[in-house]
Amino acid sequence: MQLEIAIVQFKPTLFDIKGNLQKAINIIHEIITSSNPKVILFPELFLSGYTFKDRKELDAVSFPISIQDGKNESLAPLIDISKKMSIGISGGYSEKDGDLFYNSSFFIGDGQIIANYRKTHLFHDENDYFQPGDTGFQVFEYNNVKFGMMICFDWIFPESARTLALMGSEVILHPANLVLPFCQRAMYARAIENRVFIATANRVGKEVNGKYENSFTGGSQIVSPRGEYILTMNEDGEYFSSVKIDPTEADDKNITEKSNLFKARREEFYR
Ligand code: ACM
Repeated sequence: MQLEIAIVQFKPTLFDIKGNLQKAINIIHEIITSSNPKVILFPELFLSGYTFKDRKELDAVSFPISIQDGKNESLAPLIDISKKMSIGISGGYSEKDGDLFYNSSFFIGDGQIIANYRKTHLFHDENDYFQPGDTGFQVFEYNNVKFGMMICFDWIFPESARTLALMGSEVILHPANLVLPFCQRAMYARAIENRVFIATANRVGKEVNGKYENSFTGGSQIVSPRGEYILTMNEDGEYFSSVKIDPTEADDKNITEKSNLFKARREEFYR
Protein backbone atom coordinates (compact mmCIF):
# COMPACT_ATOMS: atom_id res chain seq x y z
CA MET A 1 0.00 0.00 0.00
CA GLN A 2 1.21 3.50 -0.76
CA LEU A 3 0.34 6.78 0.86
CA GLU A 4 1.83 10.06 -0.25
CA ILE A 5 1.97 12.48 2.63
CA ALA A 6 2.93 16.16 2.51
CA ILE A 7 4.04 18.37 5.37
CA VAL A 8 4.01 22.15 5.37
CA GLN A 9 6.51 24.25 7.32
CA PHE A 10 4.55 27.44 7.82
CA LYS A 11 4.70 30.89 9.41
CA PRO A 12 1.26 32.28 10.19
CA THR A 13 0.58 35.93 10.90
CA LEU A 14 -0.56 36.31 14.51
CA PHE A 15 -4.37 36.78 14.80
CA ASP A 16 -4.93 36.83 11.01
CA ILE A 17 -7.21 33.80 10.64
CA LYS A 18 -8.53 34.88 7.24
CA GLY A 19 -5.10 35.63 5.79
CA ASN A 20 -3.57 32.43 7.18
CA LEU A 21 -6.44 30.36 5.81
CA GLN A 22 -6.03 31.90 2.36
CA LYS A 23 -2.28 31.31 2.51
CA ALA A 24 -2.88 27.66 3.45
CA ILE A 25 -5.33 27.26 0.56
CA ASN A 26 -2.77 28.75 -1.85
CA ILE A 27 -0.13 26.34 -0.57
CA ILE A 28 -2.49 23.38 -0.98
CA HIS A 29 -3.10 24.43 -4.61
CA GLU A 30 0.67 24.61 -5.16
CA ILE A 31 1.21 21.21 -3.55
CA ILE A 32 -1.42 19.45 -5.62
CA THR A 33 -0.16 20.91 -8.87
CA SER A 34 3.38 19.65 -8.22
CA SER A 35 2.68 16.34 -6.41
CA ASN A 36 -0.11 13.96 -5.55
CA PRO A 37 -0.37 13.65 -1.76
CA LYS A 38 -3.37 12.02 -0.14
CA VAL A 39 -2.76 13.81 3.18
CA ILE A 40 -1.40 17.31 3.85
CA LEU A 41 -0.28 18.28 7.36
CA PHE A 42 0.03 21.84 8.69
CA PRO A 43 1.57 22.92 12.05
CA GLU A 44 -0.06 23.52 15.43
CA LEU A 45 -2.25 26.69 15.62
CA PHE A 46 -1.41 27.49 11.99
CA LEU A 47 -4.58 29.55 11.53
CA SER A 48 -4.07 31.89 14.48
CA GLY A 49 -0.42 32.01 15.47
CA TYR A 50 0.76 30.94 18.91
CA THR A 51 1.80 33.81 21.19
CA PHE A 52 -1.23 35.04 23.15
CA LYS A 53 -1.29 37.45 26.08
CA ASP A 54 -4.61 36.32 27.51
CA ARG A 55 -7.89 34.51 26.92
CA LYS A 56 -9.48 37.59 25.35
CA GLU A 57 -6.98 37.53 22.51
CA LEU A 58 -7.45 33.81 22.15
CA ASP A 59 -11.23 34.16 22.04
CA ALA A 60 -11.00 36.35 18.93
CA VAL A 61 -9.30 33.56 16.93
CA SER A 62 -11.06 30.47 18.34
CA PHE A 63 -14.01 28.56 16.97
CA PRO A 64 -16.05 25.49 17.85
CA ILE A 65 -15.96 22.32 15.81
CA SER A 66 -18.42 19.51 15.41
CA ILE A 67 -17.43 16.15 14.06
CA GLN A 68 -21.07 15.05 14.33
CA ASP A 69 -22.20 16.93 11.25
CA GLY A 70 -18.67 17.00 9.77
CA LYS A 71 -19.07 20.66 8.82
CA ASN A 72 -17.55 23.90 10.05
CA GLU A 73 -17.91 27.47 8.88
CA SER A 74 -14.39 28.56 9.83
CA LEU A 75 -12.83 25.57 8.10
CA ALA A 76 -15.19 25.68 5.09
CA PRO A 77 -12.53 26.53 2.47
CA LEU A 78 -10.37 23.61 3.68
CA ILE A 79 -13.39 21.31 3.74
CA ASP A 80 -14.28 22.36 0.18
CA ILE A 81 -10.83 21.72 -1.25
CA SER A 82 -10.55 18.44 0.67
CA LYS A 83 -13.82 17.32 -0.92
CA LYS A 84 -13.00 18.56 -4.40
CA MET A 85 -9.56 16.94 -4.45
CA SER A 86 -10.42 13.85 -2.33
CA ILE A 87 -7.60 14.54 0.08
CA GLY A 88 -7.04 14.63 3.82
CA ILE A 89 -6.01 17.91 5.49
CA SER A 90 -4.84 18.15 9.08
CA GLY A 91 -3.50 20.90 11.31
CA GLY A 92 -3.86 22.73 14.59
CA TYR A 93 -6.35 25.42 15.64
CA SER A 94 -7.74 27.00 18.78
CA GLU A 95 -11.01 25.28 19.64
CA LYS A 96 -13.74 27.07 21.57
CA ASP A 97 -16.16 24.97 23.58
CA GLY A 98 -18.49 27.18 25.62
CA ASP A 99 -16.19 29.31 27.78
CA LEU A 100 -13.24 26.98 27.38
CA PHE A 101 -10.40 26.83 24.86
CA TYR A 102 -8.46 23.80 23.70
CA ASN A 103 -5.28 23.58 21.66
CA SER A 104 -6.68 21.14 19.09
CA SER A 105 -6.01 19.50 15.76
CA PHE A 106 -8.51 18.47 13.11
CA PHE A 107 -8.45 15.91 10.36
CA ILE A 108 -10.65 16.59 7.35
CA GLY A 109 -11.00 13.66 4.93
CA ASP A 110 -12.77 14.04 1.58
CA GLY A 111 -14.80 17.00 2.83
CA GLN A 112 -15.77 15.63 6.26
CA ILE A 113 -14.25 16.45 9.65
CA ILE A 114 -13.47 12.95 10.77
CA ALA A 115 -11.29 13.54 13.83
CA ASN A 116 -10.61 16.22 16.42
CA TYR A 117 -7.91 15.89 19.09
CA ARG A 118 -7.39 18.19 22.08
CA LYS A 119 -3.73 18.54 23.15
CA THR A 120 -3.16 16.45 26.24
CA HIS A 121 0.04 18.06 27.57
CA LEU A 122 0.04 21.85 27.50
CA PHE A 123 3.34 23.72 27.28
CA HIS A 124 4.36 26.68 29.49
CA ASP A 125 2.12 29.76 28.89
CA GLU A 126 -0.53 27.58 27.22
CA ASN A 127 -1.52 26.57 30.76
CA ASP A 128 -2.71 30.16 31.34
CA TYR A 129 -5.46 30.06 28.75
CA PHE A 130 -6.04 26.57 27.33
CA GLN A 131 -7.68 23.63 29.09
CA PRO A 132 -5.73 20.37 29.13
CA GLY A 133 -7.26 18.20 26.42
CA ASP A 134 -9.99 15.77 27.42
CA THR A 135 -10.34 13.74 24.23
CA GLY A 136 -7.46 11.40 24.96
CA PHE A 137 -5.52 9.83 22.11
CA GLN A 138 -7.58 8.48 19.25
CA VAL A 139 -7.00 6.37 16.17
CA PHE A 140 -9.09 6.89 13.04
CA GLU A 141 -9.03 5.49 9.55
CA TYR A 142 -8.74 7.39 6.32
CA ASN A 143 -7.96 5.81 2.96
CA ASN A 144 -7.45 2.46 4.77
CA VAL A 145 -4.63 3.95 6.85
CA LYS A 146 -4.79 4.16 10.65
CA PHE A 147 -3.85 7.63 11.83
CA GLY A 148 -3.35 9.14 15.26
CA MET A 149 -2.69 12.74 16.24
CA MET A 150 -0.57 14.28 18.97
CA ILE A 151 0.33 17.97 19.27
CA CYS A 152 3.77 19.48 19.82
CA PHE A 153 4.76 19.15 23.53
CA ASP A 154 2.94 15.80 23.71
CA TRP A 155 6.25 14.53 22.27
CA ILE A 156 8.11 14.78 25.59
CA PHE A 157 5.79 12.22 27.12
CA PRO A 158 6.71 8.89 25.48
CA GLU A 159 3.28 7.67 26.58
CA SER A 160 1.67 9.78 23.83
CA ALA A 161 3.25 7.99 20.88
CA ARG A 162 3.22 4.67 22.76
CA THR A 163 -0.51 4.92 23.41
CA LEU A 164 -1.24 5.80 19.78
CA ALA A 165 0.93 2.89 18.62
CA LEU A 166 -0.71 0.45 21.03
CA MET A 167 -4.08 1.63 19.71
CA GLY A 168 -2.96 0.68 16.22
CA SER A 169 -1.74 3.93 14.63
CA GLU A 170 0.39 3.40 11.58
CA VAL A 171 1.02 7.09 10.96
CA ILE A 172 1.18 9.68 13.74
CA LEU A 173 0.42 13.22 12.63
CA HIS A 174 2.25 15.71 14.82
CA PRO A 175 1.47 19.38 14.21
CA ALA A 176 3.93 21.46 16.20
CA ASN A 177 5.09 24.94 17.24
CA LEU A 178 8.35 23.72 18.73
CA VAL A 179 10.47 26.18 20.66
CA LEU A 180 12.91 23.67 22.18
CA PRO A 181 15.53 22.00 19.96
CA PHE A 182 15.15 18.38 21.13
CA CYS A 183 11.98 17.03 19.59
CA GLN A 184 13.26 16.36 16.09
CA ARG A 185 15.86 13.93 17.49
CA ALA A 186 13.49 12.49 20.09
CA MET A 187 11.00 11.59 17.35
CA TYR A 188 13.64 9.36 15.83
CA ALA A 189 13.44 7.25 19.01
CA ARG A 190 9.62 7.49 19.22
CA ALA A 191 9.37 6.11 15.67
CA ILE A 192 11.78 3.22 16.32
CA GLU A 193 10.48 2.26 19.76
CA ASN A 194 6.91 2.12 18.43
CA ARG A 195 7.63 1.16 14.83
CA VAL A 196 5.37 3.84 13.42
CA PHE A 197 5.68 6.68 10.93
CA ILE A 198 5.74 10.11 12.57
CA ALA A 199 5.15 13.27 10.57
CA THR A 200 6.04 16.49 12.38
CA ALA A 201 4.95 19.74 10.70
CA ASN A 202 6.58 22.56 12.61
CA ARG A 203 6.41 26.29 12.22
CA VAL A 204 9.19 28.82 11.77
CA GLY A 205 9.89 32.43 12.60
CA LYS A 206 9.80 34.67 15.61
CA GLU A 207 6.53 35.87 17.08
CA VAL A 208 6.36 38.87 19.41
CA ASN A 209 3.30 40.04 21.30
CA GLY A 210 4.11 42.68 23.94
CA LYS A 211 6.47 41.11 26.44
CA TYR A 212 5.78 37.64 25.07
CA GLU A 213 8.10 36.24 22.43
CA ASN A 214 8.63 32.84 20.83
CA SER A 215 11.11 31.59 18.23
CA PHE A 216 10.19 28.39 16.46
CA THR A 217 12.67 25.75 15.41
CA GLY A 218 11.42 24.45 12.03
CA GLY A 219 13.09 21.17 11.12
CA SER A 220 9.82 19.57 10.02
CA GLN A 221 10.30 15.92 9.20
CA ILE A 222 8.88 12.46 8.61
CA VAL A 223 10.56 9.51 10.34
CA SER A 224 9.95 5.89 9.35
CA PRO A 225 9.37 2.89 11.67
CA ARG A 226 12.99 1.95 11.01
CA GLY A 227 14.25 5.30 12.23
CA GLU A 228 15.01 6.76 8.82
CA TYR A 229 14.53 10.47 8.31
CA ILE A 230 12.65 10.12 5.04
CA LEU A 231 11.82 13.81 4.73
CA THR A 232 13.59 16.69 6.45
CA MET A 233 13.44 20.48 6.29
CA ASN A 234 15.86 23.02 7.70
CA GLU A 235 15.36 25.31 10.71
CA ASP A 236 14.03 28.34 8.89
CA GLY A 237 12.02 29.08 5.80
CA GLU A 238 8.59 28.02 4.70
CA TYR A 239 8.45 24.85 2.66
CA PHE A 240 6.24 22.01 1.62
CA SER A 241 7.35 18.59 0.54
CA SER A 242 5.88 15.12 0.23
CA VAL A 243 7.04 11.54 0.38
CA LYS A 244 5.49 8.17 -0.45
CA ILE A 245 5.29 5.66 2.39
CA ASP A 246 3.88 2.20 2.90
CA PRO A 247 1.88 2.57 6.15
CA THR A 248 1.62 -1.22 6.56
CA GLU A 249 5.35 -1.25 7.42
CA ALA A 250 4.17 -0.02 10.82
CA ASP A 251 2.09 -3.17 11.34
CA ASP A 252 5.18 -5.34 11.74
CA LYS A 253 6.25 -4.95 15.37
CA ASN A 254 8.97 -7.61 15.20
CA ILE A 255 12.39 -6.17 15.96
CA THR A 256 13.66 -9.72 15.33
CA GLU A 257 11.71 -12.95 14.86
CA LYS A 258 11.92 -13.52 18.61
CA SER A 259 11.48 -9.97 19.84
CA ASN A 260 8.13 -8.42 19.22
CA LEU A 261 7.95 -4.86 20.43
CA PHE A 262 4.52 -5.17 21.96
CA LYS A 263 4.40 -8.84 22.95
CA ALA A 264 7.72 -8.52 24.82
CA ARG A 265 6.47 -5.69 27.01
CA ARG A 266 6.57 -6.37 30.78
CA GLU A 267 3.73 -4.22 31.98
CA GLU A 268 3.99 -5.62 35.49
CA PHE A 269 7.28 -3.73 35.93
CA TYR A 270 6.17 -0.42 34.47
CA ARG A 271 4.74 2.66 36.18
C1 ACM B 1 4.59 23.55 22.20
O1 ACM B 1 4.02 22.58 22.71
N1 ACM B 1 3.98 24.32 21.32
C2 ACM B 1 5.98 23.87 22.53
